[in-house]
Amino acid sequence: MKSPFQYGTLVDKESFVNRVEDRRQLKDFLSAGINVMLISPRRWGKSSLVKVAMNELTEENKRMRICFIDAFSVKTEAEFLQSFAREVISCASSTWEKRLEDVKHFLTGVTPSITIKDNMSETLSLDLKLGFEERQVMDILALPERIAEAKKIHIIVCIDEFQQLALLPSYQSLEGKMRSVWQTQQRVSYCFYGSKRHMMLDIFNKASNPFYRFGQVLFMQKIAKEEWIPFIVHSFRKTGKEITEEQAGYICETVKCHSWYVQQYSFFVWTATSTSVSDEILKRQLCMLIDTNMPMFMSDTENLTASQVAMLRAITDGKSQLNAEAVVTKYGLGNPQTITRNKRILIERDFVEKQEDAFAFTDPIFEIWFREQYM
Ligand SMILES: Nc1ncnc2c1ncn2[C@@H]1O[C@H](COP(=O)(O)OP(=O)(O)O)[C@@H](O)[C@H]1O
Ligand SMILES: [Mg+2]
Repeated sequence: MKSPFQYGTLVDKESFVNRVEDRRQLKDFLSAGINVMLISPRRWGKSSLVKVAMNELTEENKRMRICFIDAFSVKTEAEFLQSFAREVISCASSTWEKRLEDVKHFLTGVTPSITIKDNMSETLSLDLKLGFEERQVMDILALPERIAEAKKIHIIVCIDEFQQLALLPSYQSLEGKMRSVWQTQQRVSYCFYGSKRHMMLDIFNKASNPFYRFGQVLFMQKIAKEEWIPFIVHSFRKTGKEITEEQAGYICETVKCHSWYVQQYSFFVWTATSTSVSDEILKRQLCMLIDTNMPMFMSDTENLTASQVAMLRAITDGKSQLNAEAVVTKYGLGNPQTITRNKRILIERDFVEKQEDAFAFTDPIFEIWFREQYM
């Protein structure tokens, strides 16, 4: 039987929970030509949200074309420009013949070819001879506007894990070029989303950086427990199994409504249940959830120093004043410089997030595991 719970892939429309307001906002901004920077910790559902919202938008408005670029594993500027050009061209026309024509028309000196993988999917390959010649780079960045203008369409360029581009050696000069070309475009909107909050904020909220005020920054929230519960109960029921609202609520609370973990934990409970969920199953499958994720937690914590582990212990105990003398002494947090550095490192490496006036673990299952191991 196909599982009603999905994780590790983008959720499709049927198993997509709510986010009505997020979807509306994204569609409204982007179709009105306002760029959006969407930020949340990883695995809360940004990629899924953008995908679903953009699919809706293309259904509602036939002049909208969307392209998706994943910056996560981009290693060079040339690679980025290559996939940027390829995706922009591919989204703007529906047939291979037209795409090849478009390459010839809009990108001079570029030889297009089509690679067919496993007789299944076809990819457009562009032989961009990028010598990092300024004009050529500018041409590629200008591509969406030129195509959109020629075809009288609106293009939305979605770049996932945008902050990874900032790690490219040539990012600074690329950043300036992107901003200067993109800010004048009329028929193109950009949606950048990313999981590294501090990097995203550096890029978009720092007055000295080119992308400052490039568009609307949105902080995506978690899906509320009240939204998850009906989804979980219904998903069990439609596959002939029973879970009570209280039990579904327990799943949500245990994983603090973290999207990926709600799905993963629900899946583990669902597979272990033949007719109705018992509290014993809930308990046993939580252990399984922790066990499955343990190798990742272990490798994440491998290189932590003693004072960093000490800081995580203080945070586990709910301490917010990490510089207070009593806390420093009790947990052994080290001298003030060490404390400042460790705060920064733990945030940068995604262990914790800074909230209003305290720190919180980013990963709710890591928190449970850490408590078991270190407290
Ligand atoms: N709206 C949603 N409804 C149901 N499940 C979701 C939703 N958004 C995210 N998820 C779950 O969380 C997982 C991670 O989502 P993803 O979009 O990849 O997050 P991100 O891009 O923020 O890292 C998905 O595989 C899915 O299991
Ligand atoms: Mg993602």
